[in-house]
Amino acid sequence: MEPRLPLDLDSETMRQMGYRVVDTLVDYWRTLPDRPIGTRPHPETLQAMLSEPTPTQPTPFEQVLDELLHKVLPHLIKVDHPRYFAFVPAPNEYVGVLADLLSAGMNIFVGTWMVGAGATQVERVVIRWLCDWFGMPAGAGGLFVSGGSVANLVCLAAARQRYPDALARGRVYYSDQTHSCVARAWRILGLREEQICVLPADEHFQIPLSRLAEQIERDRAEGLLPFCVAANAGTTNTGAVDPLNELADLCEREGLWLHADGAYGAAAILTQEGARRLQGIHRLDSLAVDPHKWLYQPMMAGCAIVREFEHLREAFRILPPYLQDKERGAAGVDLCDYGVELSRNFRALKLWMSLKTHGIEAFRQAMEHNLRLARVAEDALRRLSRWRIISPATMGILAFRYEPPEHTPEQTDALNRALVDAMIADGYAMVSSTILRGRVALRMCTLNPRASEADVLETLRRLDALAERQLTPQAGLQ
Ligand SMILES: Cc1ncc(COP(=O)(O)O)c(C=O)c1O
Repeated sequence: MEPRLPLDLDSETMRQMGYRVVDTLVDYWRTLPDRPIGTRPHPETLQAMLSEPTPTQPTPFEQVLDELLHKVLPHLIKVDHPRYFAFVPAPNEYVGVLADLLSAGMNIFVGTWMVGAGATQVERVVIRWLCDWFGMPAGAGGLFVSGGSVANLVCLAAARQRYPDALARGRVYYSDQTHSCVARAWRILGLREEQICVLPADEHFQIPLSRLAEQIERDRAEGLLPFCVAANAGTTNTGAVDPLNELADLCEREGLWLHADGAYGAAAILTQEGARRLQGIHRLDSLAVDPHKWLYQPMMAGCAIVREFEHLREAFRILPPYLQDKERGAAGVDLCDYGVELSRNFRALKLWMSLKTHGIEAFRQAMEHNLRLARVAEDALRRLSRWRIISPATMGILAFRYEPPEHTPEQTDALNRALVDAMIADGYAMVSSTILRGRVALRMCTLNPRASEADVLETLRRLDALAERQLTPQAGLQ
């Protein structure tokens, strides 16, 4: 018998390992709702448990998998848990998970047409589907990236490229509700602090239009070059959508690039509420949208979409000699020329397989369910005394605050912050906090399609009981 090559496994062993992994996943999915949300252990605990030198001897796969399940998994918070309502949940969908397995298993390269034609075409098809949802014209295009942060960066790089003077005297605008990845993108792209104008949002957490117009005029008068507005198509804080139509009017008039960060919110275009709030999205110059958020895909799936696909190429294409072969023969799109990455895996596969397997109607229904859950939460909170709605259910996000009458605002802030930790310690569900209008607010983001109304109501009941217990520490949580 020929000696086995290093790292080689026989077919039967491979199958058994694979079956074991799928069984593990299915069991995990089935039991997740009955398990605690997870924990946030001290670093020393995990260091003691997991630190070890590089393994020199083989360990049976079964044992390694067991370590993952027993030493790692219990020591994190599960962002796919149906009662994880914190930040932006990441409820992945099983077909997308299998697609990731296939994509990794076949290690499909989607950097150039020469090597990755079929996969490139699938990616182009999926991006076209998204462009169609958003009403983008035929020349629109885009690509998959790791997530919202990179999607925004890629879009804003295209914007900067269109304005040759941008680095010297450019000025960009967004509201203070904008995700920090937009600020980071501008920093990476070389803009200085003074080139960035952050406008305080209005009472609806939207960018104030007249202040924006005035600021643009003032900046022009000072010899600056206003060139880009980064709008929100669903803020992380409250789900607010900036008035895209009005912004498009202004940007058209003023010759500015209009971008929107729709990382979490833009996919809601499939729903009634989303379509209403996102009116004008078809007029954007660029849009970031994350299938790994509200399209239920496993992590590492964001999309950068631009109205003119070629604008990405202008921003990113460089041809080194060792890639010259890709330029000959059948000429398709080389996606490495349209973004940051050369080695690109097949991220589009998950959304492609997922949408084809379930059909878009299932997605729409799941999203409508998500939106309904946020409204259910709002109604329930309005029925409880001492809870104030800070921002009503908007695109699946609700912000609220527990306000005992005898507390100062500072004490109330501290109490609400403490509630996040109390919820984690309780283990049933998780919410997160933010600052709105200068005060701490809790927020629930109900994006998991496997969350039920009962999950939402029980989470609020527990929050209420925990809040009461903060006031009267001797009372136990029922
Ligand atoms: C509105 C918005 N933009 C951008 C991001 C960043 O996306 P990612 O974490 O995929 O980089 C998020 C993340 O939650 C977000 O909610």
